[in-house]
Amino acid sequence: MNYTITPYNANFIPPVQKPDANFLPQVGEQGIRDLLARLYTCLDTSPVRGIFPPADTEGMLEAAQVSADFFIQICGGPAYFNQNRGMPQMRGRHAPFAITPDARLHWLSCFEEALKPLEESVSEESLQSFWNYINIFSIMMINTQG
Ligand code: HEM
Repeated sequence: MNYTITPYNANFIPPVQKPDANFLPQVGEQGIRDLLARLYTCLDTSPVRGIFPPADTEGMLEAAQVSADFFIQICGGPAYFNQNRGMPQMRGRHAPFAITPDARLHWLSCFEEALKPLEESVSEESLQSFWNYINIFSIMMINTQG
């Protein structure tokens, strides 16, 4: 696996491709929910903790669920996100939070940690396609210069 992070360049947003269609069948919906739970557990103690919901609330659990809805949908599964939240409009939804190039790096580093357990059960090609998706898509969430 190649967990490369494309450097942020404000003048060039590379084209993004969705994860390949074989990723979700190998991981399963529950596997995606577990993946997002691992991501949010890592974010909970990461340097970007401050932009996420307060620790003493259900906010982090809820955010993990909503994000799982999105990832199941983007991976070709049921449109849970659209049903529960409406159109994705991810850039707009992230606008209230200051996402710097550095915050993206911390977020991706937590995602790498969350993805590692899947190396056992998911083909490298599919896992790579998922990583490539979040590597590029996360560039578009940057809305604040660090
Ligand atoms: C591939 C890139 C990303 C995707 C697909 C993604 C997806 C999502 C989704 C689906 C939500 C829930 C939106 C809703 O409540 O309707 C969300 C919320 C959020 N995301 Fe992201 N995200 C990405 C990158 C990032 C990055 C790089 C950061 C910052 C480090 C970030 C920070 C947040 C924050 C702070 C929230 C709000 C949590 C809350 O208060 O409930 N996201 N994201």
